[in-house]
Amino acid sequence: MTETDTPILNARHLLGIEALSVGEITGLLDLAEEYVKLGRAPQKKLALLKGRTVINLFFEPSTRTQSSFELAGKRLGADTMNMSVRTSSVSKGETLVDTATTLNAMRPDILIVRHQDSGAAELLSRKLDCSVVNAGDGCHEHPTQALLDALTIRRRLGRLDGLTVAICGDIAHSRVARSNIHLLTKMGATVRLIAPKTLLPADAASFGCEIFTDMNKGVADVDIVMMLRLQMERMAGAFVPSAREYFRFWGLDRKKLALAKPHAFVMHPGPMNRGVEIDSAVADDIEVSLIQEQVEMGVAIRMAVLDALSRGLSGGSA
Ligand code: CP
Repeated sequence: MTETDTPILNARHLLGIEALSVGEITGLLDLAEEYVKLGRAPQKKLALLKGRTVINLFFEPSTRTQSSFELAGKRLGADTMNMSVRTSSVSKGETLVDTATTLNAMRPDILIVRHQDSGAAELLSRKLDCSVVNAGDGCHEHPTQALLDALTIRRRLGRLDGLTVAICGDIAHSRVARSNIHLLTKMGATVRLIAPKTLLPADAASFGCEIFTDMNKGVADVDIVMMLRLQMERMAGAFVPSAREYFRFWGLDRKKLALAKPHAFVMHPGPMNRGVEIDSAVADDIEVSLIQEQVEMGVAIRMAVLDALSRGLSGGSA
């Protein structure tokens, strides 16, 4: 927060983790540590982005990502605006590109985009002259989720390198899984993917991860168990026999968690389907569950991302 002109990100946009270097990821995590401190202080507001405009354009529902980007922008002093897609001219047939181009004409500095199609944020980054942040595009990437997950893990275990992280559940439809796989493997962690065959992507073998269909074997001796939501909205047919059967084999309960390392932590990006992929007894146990901490880290990471991108805006940091 002091060396505001030092670049952290090489690009003008944040579209995914895949293109980031270890140095860029570490720079964002280090900067976010400062914003964790600020978020815990009574006076949470800075003027770093005073005069800048940040627009949230979410075509899919969100609780955590949209509210934390809004809070992050406000805490940095930016003017933030949440575009209500449901009541916008999208309902009259206006396209993603026309909607974003219209907002771009109002000269925002940063546009945060969530869209159901993979590649939507990248498409807009080529059409608009403001910075674009991917807040989740289809099954592709959710970069700020992986960054906040990494910050949460690093703060609890002191490192990412050398850890074993199990990502369990609906990996086929998960942009969170993809971003986390990119980030964790780049940072030297071993990633295990645990899912029924129907919920593993066809190209899973090319991800550089260990793959398990038996959860009891997959969670054995891991440091982190990261559970994923069954994304019914992205499933065209029946991928699992029933929620009850799914929980029995791939849901995280105390019995399965006991197979992980004694100090292992549980994570979930939210929203959770309690009793489907995770038992409430585990999700709400503050000794093992980092789920609320992930939410707190979300604000800090998004402040770091807005700060880092503002350094590349014309005129530099406000
Ligand atoms: N983890 C996550 O992206 O949550 P929201 O859908 O609530 O933003």
